[in-house]
Amino acid sequence: MQHEYQDILVSDISSGVLTITLNRPEAYNALRTQLLSEVAEVLDQAAQNDDVRAVVITGNEKVFAAGADIKEMAALDAVGVLNDPRVLHWRRIAQFTKPLIAAVNGFALGGGCELVMHADIVIAGDNAQFGQPEINLGIIPGAGGTQRLLRTVGKSMAMQLVLSGEFISAAQARDFGLVSEVTIPERSLERATELARKIATKPPIAVRQAKEVLLKAYETTLDSGLSLERKAFTLLAATEDRNEGIAAFMEKRKPNFTGK
Ligand code: CAA
Repeated sequence: MQHEYQDILVSDISSGVLTITLNRPEAYNALRTQLLSEVAEVLDQAAQNDDVRAVVITGNEKVFAAGADIKEMAALDAVGVLNDPRVLHWRRIAQFTKPLIAAVNGFALGGGCELVMHADIVIAGDNAQFGQPEINLGIIPGAGGTQRLLRTVGKSMAMQLVLSGEFISAAQARDFGLVSEVTIPERSLERATELARKIATKPPIAVRQAKEVLLKAYETTLDSGLSLERKAFTLLAATEDRNEGIAAFMEKRKPNFTGK
């Protein structure tokens, strides 16, 4: 069953996975405040719900999201931009502690590409196009596009995308590490869901620690990152799931992880 919000659809939890579908097809899923607040709210709830182990986020077959809602943005002066509540919603999305997997078909532009970069794993249909065309509007990416893109695809391609506004294909995005797999468009959501379900069977505390430590690699020195990894590794030694995982291996059986 799909639960209808104003701008998104949210599935029931199935095998530990919740699916969010961006649902403003008439505006190419432009990320107006309402849409972003709904995504942030659902992720906040998912973070608190032990039954949710991973979340998939997707759009439709033609568009993931064409960026911030330009019509909404047009009404904001500098003070409006300064106080824009969307900044808070982006932060809530960035702070989601469980795996977020994006299934992307069609356009992922501007804020849409930035939303893709908030996902932990990205599966793209071969019709996907990624870009940061804000330069054409006299602005620059404002939801992490300059920072996350450079850390993801490297300086030259980040500069190319942000300065020229050109789009890249799914295959190029894969070559540059923005997406991990390219499928036919009809399969991207299925593949993302398959991965999410697999992750949902893994020990949740270890999954959460892995995500936290991996994301730290973006913003810290190797030495601090290694130290954090070691601490997380040590913490996991205190979990029942670690004992269960090792015991199951020894006894040649499947582990039964309980999240403790
Ligand atoms: N905001 C609001 N409406 C949008 C939109 C956006 N970002 N993108 C598309 N739409 C709307 C169009 O206005 C149009 O609606 P109407 O029919 O009511 O006019 C409808 O979606 C379809 O769009 P097009 O007719 O333009 O479709 P197309 O197939 O010819 O082109 C496109 C598709 C290349 C995605 C083109 O729509 C486009 O360039 N969109 C804008 C992309 C963009 O500049 N994104 C960056 C936004 S700024 C940003 O995101 C800032 C940030 O970092 C947070």
